[in-house]
Amino acid sequence: MSEVKGIRRYFKQYNIGNVTAMMKNNKAEPVICSTPFRKKLVMITGATSGIGYAAAHKYASMGADLICINRNTEKSERLCREIRETYQTECACIITDFSVMDQVKKLAEDLQELKRPVDVLIYNAGVHLTRRTETAEGLETVFVVNHLSSFLLTTVLVPIFKKQGHGRILFVNSEGHRFAAWGLRTDDLNWEKRRYSGLGSYGSAKLAQLLTMLIFAEQLEGSGATINAMHPGAVKTEAGKDNGRLYKWYKNNILEKNFRTPEISAEALYYLGVSEEVAHTNGKFFNLTRLEDPAPPAVDREAAEEIFRISKELCGLGEHR
Ligand SMILES: NC(=O)c1ccc[n+]([C@@H]2O[C@H](COP(=O)([O-])OP(=O)(O)OC[C@H]3O[C@@H](n4cnc5c(N)ncnc54)[C@H](OP(=O)(O)O)[C@@H]3O)[C@@H](O)[C@H]2O)c1
Repeated sequence: MSEVKGIRRYFKQYNIGNVTAMMKNNKAEPVICSTPFRKKLVMITGATSGIGYAAAHKYASMGADLICINRNTEKSERLCREIRETYQTECACIITDFSVMDQVKKLAEDLQELKRPVDVLIYNAGVHLTRRTETAEGLETVFVVNHLSSFLLTTVLVPIFKKQGHGRILFVNSEGHRFAAWGLRTDDLNWEKRRYSGLGSYGSAKLAQLLTMLIFAEQLEGSGATINAMHPGAVKTEAGKDNGRLYKWYKNNILEKNFRTPEISAEALYYLGVSEEVAHTNGKFFNLTRLEDPAPPAVDREAAEEIFRISKELCGLGEHR
């Protein structure tokens, strides 16, 4: 959709009440869940730093066994050792780079062989890049890491979650989806026809993920398994570490001044993964633990169908549903 079409389509749907609700939610504390999660299996992507790292510690501290899917072997091994020694729970790591679709496909195949049901699956790995880069397959990196890789895995795993009849899938998404204020430019998901923008590409990838969640939620409806997305708060992490010096200065000296710690994100991810209060919530967006209306382009059913079909094609998964 072009920007002009997007403005025409969504302008009237914007509601100041939603924005003020978001601002209020941004200041809220997460609801704390103190239910133990002993011997349950939790899979987390990007657990080597920031929010994923804090979430891995939170779940392990409550007794869960972990499978962490990370790209860095050394950091992964350190994390696993740390988790096992600190909490005496199981922690296995699988090395996968989410910017390499062949590796993600291999992971999808391997996960189908898992003998144990996954109780909570947290897609957390993500990047924010101020300069456009391409993956080996010629796709824009932020789109692949933040959306396409989790899309491919979820497509493969939804039938497994349906069969097991329980389990919660959580997308660590972002209020940043609002940067794609006029919807997805599906004619240029690769950012070749317009000037690249770090916030724009990040917002588009997060929006794509939110839209496809609507379809996954429909697929899971009534199965006992659920899928939801959340904004993890504005928290200090390693995000943006691959950007230039100017960005890092801005991040350290201005952007993060009022940021909180990733432990609040971990608490929210624990609540969303474990609490009975949200056991049947499906296809929703949370700001930490508060239900929130995402931006109008994120609830556009027609746009969801379109990006779902395109994502499937890009993953080589053939026809839509
Ligand atoms: N921080 C915030 O305020 C904020 C706000 C809204 C949303 N989020 C979202 O929260 C999630 C976590 O971000 P964070 O803030 O915790 O940042 P972070 O500290 O940079 O953590 C990102 C994690 O993702 C991993 N990762 C990055 N690229 C990867 C790839 N190609 N393949 C596999 N793993 C990869 C990183 O691995 P390495 O350790 O190897 O780099 C790291 O474990 C992201 O989805 C982000 O968009 C964050």
